[in-house]
Amino acid sequence: MAEAIAIEHVSYRYQSAGREVLAVDDVSLQVAPAEFVCVLGPSGCGKTTIMNMIVGFLHPTQGTIRIGDGSDDAGSNRGVVFQDFAQLFPWRTARRNVEFGLEMRKIPTAERRETAMEFLRLVGLTKFADAFPHELSGGMQQRVAIARALAYNPGVLLMDEPFAALDAMTREEMQRLVTDIWQKTRKTVVYVTHNISEAVYLADRVIVLAAHPGKLKAEFRLTLPRPRDPLAPEFIEAQREISAALGVH
Ligand SMILES: Nc1ncnc2c1ncn2[C@@H]1O[C@H](COP(=O)(O)OP(=O)(O)O)[C@@H](O)[C@H]1O
Ligand SMILES: [Mg+2]
Repeated sequence: MAEAIAIEHVSYRYQSAGREVLAVDDVSLQVAPAEFVCVLGPSGCGKTTIMNMIVGFLHPTQGTIRIGDGSDDAGSNRGVVFQDFAQLFPWRTARRNVEFGLEMRKIPTAERRETAMEFLRLVGLTKFADAFPHELSGGMQQRVAIARALAYNPGVLLMDEPFAALDAMTREEMQRLVTDIWQKTRKTVVYVTHNISEAVYLADRVIVLAAHPGKLKAEFRLTLPRPRDPLAPEFIEAQREISAALGVH
């Protein structure tokens, strides 16, 4: 199951202490079912704000966002992975973290367990099912968060810089894992990053946002076969083009 996302003329204005900040300025974006889209832009350009609107935590000041046919309860068809390692419940084991969404859906215990173990296997953590978050490395915790997001079979998977706080080697390993999982599950993915090579490694399409306030600046379609080789000339060329669009040299 994969669902389309339709973002139409969406703006977001924060209001705090009498001050207004236009964080997202008239963004429109269509994501096809099973497409992997990376939203790329500098820090502060409105990426997290866009993500929070897709998740349903924030409502657009203007414009509309629709997922699938829009008939589900807000949020129930979305799986979410954030940058923050603290997103797991510290008092629950890895398996029980993954079971969380299934509990909310009143899935019977035996079935819940089986599904949780299946997704822990997908992220390579079967052996750590009974470990608590504090016993796991940052990368492992993010893998639990991915398993949890996927376990209740959401129509879209939303990831906001999930590996930004990891060391470079772990990050590369996680990027390979995400490609592998996406090829197996064929979810619609929106993945936010400020890292150009990460976007080129992962995406079918890269959406470049201008610096604050967030406005679409350019769009690139990537057709390199997966898994991608960051040392291939085509990869480096794509990085170069996107860097130019971002204004990075
Ligand atoms: N709660 C808030 N109140 C006021 N301004 C905010 C708030 N959250 C974010 N902003 C501002 O909105 C802009 C976009 O922020 P954000 O979406 O977090 O960007 P990004 O994720 O791309 O770094 C920034 O200028 C930021 O300072
Ligand atoms: Mg952010």
